[in-house]
Amino acid sequence: MKINLSNIKKAKKLLNLGECVAIPTETVYGLAGNAYSNKACTKIFNLKKRPKNNPLIVHYYNKVDLKKDCDFNNNFSKLYKKFCPGPITFILNLRKNSKISMIATNKKRTLAVRFPKHSVTRNLLKRLKFPLAAPSANITTRVSAVCAADIKEDFGKKIKYILEGGKSSIGLESTIVDLRNKPRILRLGGLDIQKIQKVLNTKIKIHNNPKKILAPGQSQLHYSPGIPIRLNVKKIKNKEAFLLIRKKRIKNPNYYYLSKKGNLNEAAKNLYSTLRKIKKNKYKSIAVSRIPNKGLGKTINDRLIRASKF
Ligand code: TXA
Ligand code: MG
Repeated sequence: MKINLSNIKKAKKLLNLGECVAIPTETVYGLAGNAYSNKACTKIFNLKKRPKNNPLIVHYYNKVDLKKDCDFNNNFSKLYKKFCPGPITFILNLRKNSKISMIATNKKRTLAVRFPKHSVTRNLLKRLKFPLAAPSANITTRVSAVCAADIKEDFGKKIKYILEGGKSSIGLESTIVDLRNKPRILRLGGLDIQKIQKVLNTKIKIHNNPKKILAPGQSQLHYSPGIPIRLNVKKIKNKEAFLLIRKKRIKNPNYYYLSKKGNLNEAAKNLYSTLRKIKKNKYKSIAVSRIPNKGLGKTINDRLIRASKF
């Protein structure tokens, strides 16, 4: 992606003033503010209508910057070396003298941290004197944003500036791994957990007990386009939109494809924008065909199951 320096400087100026700006990442767009500022973090919560007990994820340029705020361990170093910058978020312990806003953490002593790969946002982070708190740039419980138009759709003019970075290349949020004790996955995401297991050389449990939620944002209803969704459907009902993993020969205006040939990475990239498109085209419900439960297909299924709780 070509870097437009004047855009980055504009974003920097607003962030230095404690304002919120939307930033592109390879997973989804984030709604960013100074993670050291109570004022900026409060604005993020208000804009997203996010419950105060759901802490914010914080983005750093590199681990040298992170060292000021968090302690890290051997497992972190291994995963950082292999996957960062990239679509993985770590839960770590905060240091005593960390400057992260208590609004961002909801006074917890842990922090979710990520090193985004998108070149525009890396350029921005490098120029800032603080890390960026940046949850996904969507209204709470709804579908994440993968391009500037999605953000305008959700927020209108309420967000002061959107730093343009094209369509997010992965299209699903980062994989969250809690590294405080024995590693465990708190959210499936854009990085296949098999790759994480390989680096740590151990099987990692996925924590998905809805009665004991560790990542507060992973409550049951989430990623919803705002209309009902039925899963594993073979035959659609009248007037339903049909979401398919792979293009079919039959031409039907009700049919929406995530990928030409059933490629799961391409499907991930198109998932949220296709859900938004179906909603915009005024369908009252969505039927989804079976999606293979492997690789990023696991994350796609996770998101669709949550979206279907509408
Ligand atoms: O790919 C991503 O992770 C995107 C981009 C913008 O970086 N961000 C994102 O943020 O998806 P958000 O806020 O929508 O999801 C972050 C998740 C939430 O479920 C939140 O509850 C969880 O991380 N989280 C944040 N801080 C946490 C903490 N200290 N312990 C456990 N979970 C935490
Ligand atoms: Mg989110």
